[in-house]
Amino acid sequence: MDMQKIPAREGNHNLTDYEKTRETFSWEALKKHFTWNETGKVNMAYEALDRHAENPKKKDQVALLYSDPEREEKVTFATLRDESNKFANVLRKYDVKKGDRVFLFMPRSPEFYAAFFGILKVGAIAGPLFEAFMEQAVRDRLQDSEARVLITTPDLLYRVPQNDLPALEKIVLVGDHQETGEQYIDYNKEMENTSAKTEIEWVDLEDGMLLHYTSGSTGKPKGVYHVHHAMIQHYATGDWVLDLKEDDVYWCTADPGWVTGTSYGIFAPWLHGVTNVIRGGRFTPDDWYNTIATYRVTVWYTAPTALRKLVSAGEDIVKKYDLSSLRHIMSVGEPLNPEVVTWGLKAFNLRIHDTWWMTETGAQLIVNVPSMEIRPGSMGKPIPGVDAAIIDNEGNELPANQMGNLAIKKGWPSMMRAIWKNPSKYESYFIHGWYVSGDSAYKDEDGYFWFQGRLDDVINTSGERVGPFEVESKLIEHPAVAEAGVIGKPHAERGEIIKAFITLNDGYQDSEELLEDIRRFVKTGLSAHAAPRELEVKDTIPKTRSGKIMRRLLKSWELGLPTGDTSTLEE
Ligand code: WTA
Repeated sequence: MDMQKIPAREGNHNLTDYEKTRETFSWEALKKHFTWNETGKVNMAYEALDRHAENPKKKDQVALLYSDPEREEKVTFATLRDESNKFANVLRKYDVKKGDRVFLFMPRSPEFYAAFFGILKVGAIAGPLFEAFMEQAVRDRLQDSEARVLITTPDLLYRVPQNDLPALEKIVLVGDHQETGEQYIDYNKEMENTSAKTEIEWVDLEDGMLLHYTSGSTGKPKGVYHVHHAMIQHYATGDWVLDLKEDDVYWCTADPGWVTGTSYGIFAPWLHGVTNVIRGGRFTPDDWYNTIATYRVTVWYTAPTALRKLVSAGEDIVKKYDLSSLRHIMSVGEPLNPEVVTWGLKAFNLRIHDTWWMTETGAQLIVNVPSMEIRPGSMGKPIPGVDAAIIDNEGNELPANQMGNLAIKKGWPSMMRAIWKNPSKYESYFIHGWYVSGDSAYKDEDGYFWFQGRLDDVINTSGERVGPFEVESKLIEHPAVAEAGVIGKPHAERGEIIKAFITLNDGYQDSEELLEDIRRFVKTGLSAHAAPRELEVKDTIPKTRSGKIMRRLLKSWELGLPTGDTSTLEE
């Protein structure tokens, strides 16, 4: 294969010598950078916010540069500190304590970020949910986490099935509303009548901070539990990979319902005290470029699905905008197509740096940094302090260029510490001291990792991780559907799309209207991104003798591939 290599970018980068830093780096030494090193007691909210608000040179700097089609707001570090203090006081008034789960189900807004930090300040565990979730998705997550408090907006309230949520005591409503029940708390009213001073709850490094629900190939979404300790990796990668400098204007396009939107939409940038651009709403390519040009964005973290849209929109539109502020671009969430990297060189005259990590890993693990040669199509190399390898199913390391399980040596700081209330699920990730990612990959002679695919049935559609079981479960709730099998089908722009095979109950006929109704049922019950783009009616769904749906076989049929071993097929 004729492989293009893109040389390191000229300039003064934070991580100038990757190899040497790898040899000498230790997480223990990095801890000394933090003031909490002396007491051992920490709080992410203090490190990311209050520390800057207490610094006379930084307190009036814009921390949050928020905009959506209706609103634009600049919030300084001092103001964000005060607002989050107020919210911490509101939570305390309602007896929220360390370790309680407080969930957020609302679009991005300045209130979201104040509330988020308020939660951390009382030592509670924050659980951000995508605003696109419908009732079933909200129910599953709030039930499993036993959240005591939910922060939401009046127009999302109808998707919160309060009767099914016995643990949920209070609902904070952000925005005008008519609700009168005792369970409701009015955000604006409470904030007006609260002091802007609070006592931060100092916690241990290993105390809980965040629950992110994500999908696997089986079962309901699982709660990935992260602790304050993660901050040292958010800080380190903010330095090495995001290459942040104090005067940067940084923009991460991800929603905080996704781990990228917290680790790199909140923690890494604010640990470094940079101005953080946050945009709500959906964007067109023009909005993207316009955001960069208007706010003079210097560092941009986005996803392949967005970049592919920009590629389709063409190079002419790039020329309409002044993008000269941009210095550094990164991508995460799906394979970054080599063509997109090549296009980036032409369109922006910049390299696009792929980064690999997962909800479970809490922070970036395999990356391209500015001082490293890029091999388009490769995810790069492990960050200092992290060992990655390709292993077989017994945990043995495989030689270069051999495909296998992408695995990480257990023990990096931002690693999940549990799957909420599911210890056996947590244990199932590890063999012989390795965390097994579920991705297949190989490593070349020079130590670059190359993504090959998922080893399980997890679907990645436009960067959203979707579990087939969740979609199948919803499908069979529809009165017409008897059985369902769901797969990811390769798609040029979206990476994969969701395709569902179903069998119908007696009395139902395959028709366009029926399929549309079933699609809408999933869309309005679960979420838009989980609704199958393609639905096909079958006479039977292939299953193993033990009754498991054989998604692998459905996929082979769909793609016209050899069907492989079918010895466990029923009948
Ligand atoms: C995929 C949180 C290829 C992968 C960030 C992984 C990637 C899953 C890349 C995690 C990449 C993530 N190249 N594939 N650079 N980054 N993935 O937890 O399959 O929503 O296991 O992502 O996304 O998804 P999650």
